Amino acid sequence: MVKAAVFASGNGSNFENLLLASKNKEINCEICVLIVDKSDAYAIKRAQKFGLPYYFVNISDFSCKDEFEKHIIGILNKYRVEYIFLAGYMRIISSVLLDKFKNKIINIHPSFLPNFTGKDAIKRSFDCDEGYGGVSVHFVDAGIDTGEIIYQEKLLIKPEWNLQKFEEEIHKLEYVVYKKALNKILGDKDEKSIN
Ligand code: GRF
Repeated sequence: MVKAAVFASGNGSNFENLLLASKNKEINCEICVLIVDKSDAYAIKRAQKFGLPYYFVNISDFSCKDEFEKHIIGILNKYRVEYIFLAGYMRIISSVLLDKFKNKIINIHPSFLPNFTGKDAIKRSFDCDEGYGGVSVHFVDAGIDTGEIIYQEKLLIKPEWNLQKFEEEIHKLEYVVYKKALNKILGDKDEKSIN
């Protein structure tokens, strides 16, 4: 089975969702390691809860970002990782990782791309006049949220929703959309076992 790593910087609810989906065989891959770039990322607690190996890699310990990413590749090799799923990882991926994992790095973004790339995408979607937001899962390229879209869904904003409610609904949708996107590229497990 394909092995994957998740990269996160903060809360890690998408990480936990993917880990559970992997354990429940809802996605056709094994999440085998978590990489975090912040020592206080709550994602660490989630990894500990499941006994999943995790690594805090501190960019300050390296002379440059290339060295930081090379160190991460060393960890990923140890686990024979083929795919990287970004889940709230707040750092731009540079060419060292992009070249090593061509079309194998995937990100989730809380907007209907190409609308609202970058930060505060949920608030910016809520504040605009279009009346909808969304969730997009895409391959990672050198830009910010610009890679080829794998799967996305729109979320219509109900008139009675405030920003907090909209955010909650976006996060719920994320957990569904990330799994659907991964099934699209990794293949559905049941289909595979039939063939
Ligand atoms: C999510 O909204 C994701 O789309 C964005 O960062 C957020 C991470 O949330 N890239 P969590 O840490 O998975 O709870």
